[in-house]
Formats: sequence, structure tokens, C-alpha cells
Amino acid sequence: MLNHHASPFRRKRFWAVAATLAFFTQAAAAQSDYVVIAANDLGMHCMQNDFSQIMILPPFNTLRAQVIRRDGPDIVTSDLSLSFTIPGNTHSSDKTNFWEYVQPLLGVPLAPDIGVAGTGMSGPMIRNSTRRDFFAEGIPITPIDDDGKENPYSMALVTARDQNGVIVAQTQAVVPVSWEMSCNLCHVDPVRSTAGNILFYHDLLHGTNLKDQQPVLCASCHSDNALGAPGIPGVPSLSHAMHRAHAERMDLTDLTNKCYACHPGVRTDCQRDVHAASGITCTTCHGDMLAVANPARNPWLEEPRCDSCHTRAGFEFEQPGTLFRNSTGHGKATCTTCHGSPHVIGPATTQTDNAQAIRIQGHSGVLNTCTVCHRQTPSDPFPHRRPD
Ligand code: HEC
Ligand code: HEC
Ligand code: HEC
Ligand code: HEC
Ligand code: HEC
Ligand code: HEC
Ligand code: HEC
Repeated sequence: MLNHHASPFRRKRFWAVAATLAFFTQAAAAQSDYVVIAANDLGMHCMQNDFSQIMILPPFNTLRAQVIRRDGPDIVTSDLSLSFTIPGNTHSSDKTNFWEYVQPLLGVPLAPDIGVAGTGMSGPMIRNSTRRDFFAEGIPITPIDDDGKENPYSMALVTARDQNGVIVAQTQAVVPVSWEMSCNLCHVDPVRSTAGNILFYHDLLHGTNLKDQQPVLCASCHSDNALGAPGIPGVPSLSHAMHRAHAERMDLTDLTNKCYACHPGVRTDCQRDVHAASGITCTTCHGDMLAVANPARNPWLEEPRCDSCHTRAGFEFEQPGTLFRNSTGHGKATCTTCHGSPHVIGPATTQTDNAQAIRIQGHSGVLNTCTVCHRQTPSDPFPHRRPD
């Protein structure tokens, strides 16, 4: 039942997508020894394009991948090396002024195209033996392709090589990033920029003098777990401050999804998962602005859980106290290996996000084709839980 298979229609779509990818390796053949499956950690990363006045979030994207050896199957963490490239988006420092302002903002200089965690626009992926995966943290990608077009959904190419440097598996996965933060829906001003208007009101309402301290790092005072910034004691976290203060202002926009006033967004449509198709939206899972601002929540670290809605006899979901992205399930494969990133739980509404599943199993959606990882379809039933 799990193994319900590609209809002729799905097959057709598979080849159409494979052809448009202009990339097809042996990895697609179900009989190769290894399969590599990659996913972004969050499903969407946000950044600004202009850092000359304020910084909320820097360019920072994290890609993860698991390699499975089909004999076993085993999740491989040694003897192989992984690397990534982003063929359509290879440089960033000419697409945003981040590198011009990183020294005054963060107090450290950074070489062009190197992100705050030291990762560049291509390079090795590092092993994480707890999660049994490989990762590249803080890729400083922007949503502008090398041909100058806006594209929040660039594709990375992930390559696994054996100790002799021979390619044993490859895949493609989306490295999503957007700067569609529409603060300018409300922060418009005849004499100031949007950021200038924001700083003006911050100074007016809170007695600060941010106007004369530009560029301003919000997290220098407001703690921010996304940046590991402790903030100043007594000042609310940035998430708490932003959602609480704006909760009663949201009627100023007539957006259907008010979260898209600051999160990306009506153009980017960052929630593109299976839930979007059932009308489940940000507030169904996260609650409203005041729920996000609840001071009892630890921002970024306490998020919705699949098992707060999904229950099923014999099924286990996230490990207690552990985010979806850090949890593992069947055979210790990560949840994201089979389901995709948060906000992109497959099947997605976007072809680029579905491409990996289509390429490796012939159809989009959860990896339910046992031979993606097992040499033969096991006769035992599928355990949807983490083994001891
Ligand atoms: C739906 C409208 C709306 C949007 C969208 C919006 N703001 Fe605001 N914001 C306001 C209003 C209204 C004020 C208060 C200004 C006043 O008192 O006249 C404000 C004030 C602020 C302040 C001053 C501190 C305070 O007490 O709130 C900051 C900082 C701020 N906004 C940041 C942002 C940022 C950053 C974004 C985008 C990520 C954003 N805002 C998007 C409406 C909005
Ligand atoms: C110099 C320290 C400092 C910096 C830098 C700073 N803030 Fe604040 N911010 C404060 C203080 C202090 C308050 C008042 C907190 C309170 O009243 O509890 C505040 C209040 C706010 C509020 C209103 C919170 C509420 O509940 O009413 C928002 C929103 C906000 N800041 C956003 C920002 C943003 C966005 C940035 C970066 C552009 C920023 N802040 C930079 C110190 C700072
Ligand atoms: C006025 C702008 C604004 C609006 C509207 C807004 N957000 Fe945010 N949100 C932000 C900013 C800015 C951050 C990043 C804060 C940081 O860097 O820590 C953020 C971060 C978050 C986070 C991650 C941090 C955390 O608290 O866990 C969640 C979740 C979130 N928003 C959910 C929502 C939801 C759901 C809505 C709609 C109900 C919404 N936001 C509407 C500005 C906004
Ligand atoms: C089906 C439920 C669901 C919906 C719908 C949903 N989220 Fe989330 N969101 C989650 C889960 C689960 C996480 C924690 C993922 C993780 O990090 O493992 C999360 C985390 C986040 C974060 C923190 C960064 C991260 O990914 O951990 C932000 C910001 C966020 N959501 C914003 C939004 C916005 C904005 C929307 C609507 C456009 C939205 N979410 C819709 C379930 C949902
Ligand atoms: C707010 C409740 C809620 C949360 C949180 C939630 N889901 Fe769902 N999910 C639903 C609902 C409702 C449906 C639609 C069922 C339908 O249409 O029949 C659904 C459908 C699905 C489906 C489609 C297949 C199916 O069983 O119908 C998958 C897969 C799925 N969710 C996975 C997840 C994952 C993975 C997470 C955590 C990252 C998650 N969900 C978080 C409520 C939720
Ligand atoms: C080896 C692949 C695999 C892994 C790893 C995996 N899942 Fe699943 N998951 C599946 C399959 C296949 C289904 C669909 C079962 C069906 O409906 O027939 C499923 C279904 C689900 C559903 C929908 C359940 C329902 O019927 O309502 C949720 C939610 C879910 N998984 C969450 C998770 C979480 C959380 C993790 C990590 C702790 C995880 N999964 C790990 C393959 C996997
Ligand atoms: C994403 C890769 C992946 C997929 C897809 C997958 N498996 Fe597995 N499976 C594994 C791994 C890894 C193990 C762990 C093998 C070990 O350590 O012994 C495993 C183990 C098992 C086991 C042994 C569990 C135990 O602990 O005894 C069974 C049974 C099994 N899988 C059935 C299935 C079935 C049936 C399917 C298809 C519906 C499936 N698997 C799909 C990766 C996968």
C-alpha cells in the first residue's frame, strides 16, 4: 500500500522534469549502490538586500544531506565526502551590499562570497554524526541568479564521492532564500527610506538614537536565537518585540495572509507544502501574531510539531523536545530525508521542490518507495519510528 506506484501520467511528468533539469546521472538508476538525499533546513531563509541602515537577518542558508548505502541499508557517515555547488547562482557579493557593511554590523570582516559561518557558495559539506548527515551551514546565497533574474528557489547540486574521488551519487535540492520582507507596505515616508522610517519610529517610541548609529544590528539589543545573539537583559527578543508590537497594526494591510506582510510573501509564497493545498496556513500551525509573541515561547527553538495534529497507531513522530528538522525516524533517516523541509512537506506546490523525489522514485511526495534505500522491497511492514 505504501508502495503505490507511479501511474503512466506520473511517469510522463517524471521524464519531463528530468529533461528540464538538464542533469541526469547514474544516481537516477535505482540500482546504484548509494543514494544521496538533500534538503534545506528551514524551507525558507530570509535576508535583506540592503544592509546600509539595518540588519535583521544576514544571507544564511543551510543545506543538509543523508547518504544511504542500499546494501544494508546503512546511513553512511564515513568513507565518503560530500560537496555542493549551486550552478545557477555562484556569487553573491555583487548582488547585495552585505559584505560592505558586515564589519560595522558584526565587528568582523568577511571575504566576498563567504558567509558568517565561514561557508562559501560551493564547497565541502561537513559530517554530523548525531544526525547522521552532512551539512553546509550559512551558505550566503541571495535570491538573484547569475543571469540577474529573481529566483528564491535556486537548485544546489550535491555530490558524494568515495575515497578515490569517484562520484557515487548526486542529487539536486532547493536552497530557498527571499528578501521579500514587505515592511514598505506600511513604512512609507516622503523623506526617508523604509529602513529610515523604521529607525525614526523606533527612536520616537522608545527613546533610542538608532538614527545616528547606522548600520543598526537589531540583535545587538534584542536577543535573537537565529543569530545566537544574547541581546540586552530586559529588552524583549526580536521575534517577541516584532510580533507583539505589530499585532494590532495588521489591519493596515488587506493581505489575505497577514504573515506575508513581513515573511516572504505574496510573490515568493514560502509555504508551498502539502498543507497549503488543504488550506492550512501559517496561523493554523503557529497561531496568530500574539501567539507567536507569547513570551513563554523560546523563538526559533519552540515551533509547531507534526504530532500536535497527526496521530496514527504505531507511528512515532518527532523526538521529544526536538525540532522536526533535527528529528530522525525510520532506520534513523531524518524526517526531512523522506518528507522534505518544513514548509515544503511533499508533495509541494512547486515543481523545483518536487524534482528530487520525482527523480529518485518517479513521483513527488513522501519517499514511500522502499527501493530508494533498500536493495529489495522488505517483506516486513514499514516501521514509522526511530529504531532504538
Ligand atoms: C501592517 C503595517 C506594518 C508592516 C507590514 C510593518 N510595520 Fe512596523 N510599524 C507599523 C506601525 C503602524 C508602526 C508605528 C508607527 C507609529 O507609531 O506611527 C510601526 C513601528 C515599527 C517599529 C518601531 C518600534 C515599535 O514600537 O513597533 C519598528 C522597529 C518596526 N515597525 C519595524 C518593522 C519591520 C522591520 C517591518 C518589516 C519586517 C515592519 N515594521 C513592517 C506598521 C507596520
Ligand atoms: C540600542 C538598543 C536597541 C536596538 C539596536 C534596537 N532596539 Fe528595538 N527596542 C529597544 C528597546 C529598549 C525597546 C523598548 C522595549 C520595551 O519597551 O520593553 C525596543 C522596542 C522595540 C519594539 C517594540 C516592542 C514592543 O513590544 O512594543 C520593536 C518592534 C523593536 N524594538 C524592533 C527593533 C528592530 C526591528 C531593530 C533593528 C532595526 C531594533 N529594534 C533595534 C532597543 C533596541
Ligand atoms: C511586522 C512584521 C512581521 C509580521 C507581520 C510577522 N512576522 Fe514573523 N517574524 C518577523 C521578523 C522580523 C522575524 C525574525 C526575528 C528574528 O530574527 O529573530 C520573524 C520571525 C518569525 C518566526 C521565527 C521566530 C520565532 O518566534 O520562532 C516565526 C515562527 C514567525 N515569525 C511566525 C510568524 C507568523 C505565523 C506570522 C503571522 C501570524 C508572522 N510571523 C508575522 C516579522 C514579522
Ligand atoms: C503545517 C504546519 C505549518 C505551517 C502551515 C507553517 N509552519 Fe512555520 N513551522 C512549522 C514547523 C513544524 C516549524 C519548525 C520546523 C523546524 O525547524 O524543524 C516551523 C518553523 C517556522 C519558522 C522558524 C524557522 C524554521 O523553519 O524553523 C518560521 C519563521 C515559520 N515557521 C514561519 C511560518 C510562516 C510565515 C508560515 C506561513 C507562510 C508558516 N510558518 C506556516 C510548521 C508550519
Ligand atoms: C495544525 C495541524 C497540523 C500540523 C502542525 C501538521 N499537519 Fe500535516 N496535515 C494536517 C491536516 C489537517 C492535513 C490534511 C489532511 C487531509 O486533507 O486529509 C495534513 C496533511 C499532511 C500530509 C498529507 C498526507 C496525509 O496524511 O493526509 C502529510 C504528509 C503531512 N500532513 C505531514 C506533516 C508533517 C511532516 C508535519 C510536521 C512538519 C505536519 N504534517 C504538521 C494538519 C497538520
Ligand atoms: C523512510 C522515510 C520516512 C521517514 C524517515 C519519516 N517518514 Fe513520515 N511518513 C513516511 C511515509 C511513507 C508516510 C505515509 C504513510 C501512509 O500514509 O501510507 C509518512 C507519514 C507521515 C505523517 C502523516 C501521518 C498521517 O497519516 O497523518 C507525518 C506527520 C510524518 N510522516 C511525520 C514524520 C516525522 C516527524 C518524521 C521524523 C521523526 C518522519 N515522518 C520520518 C515516511 C517517512
Ligand atoms: C530513506 C531511506 C529508506 C526508505 C525510503 C525506506 N527505508 Fe527501510 N530502512 C532504511 C534504513 C537506513 C534502515 C536501517 C537498516 C539497519 O540499520 O538495519 C531501514 C530498516 C528497515 C527495516 C528494518 C527495521 C528494523 O529495525 O528491524 C524494515 C522492515 C524496513 N526498513 C522496511 C521498509 C519499507 C517496507 C520501506 C518502503 C515502504 C522502507 N523501509 C523504505 C532506510 C529506508
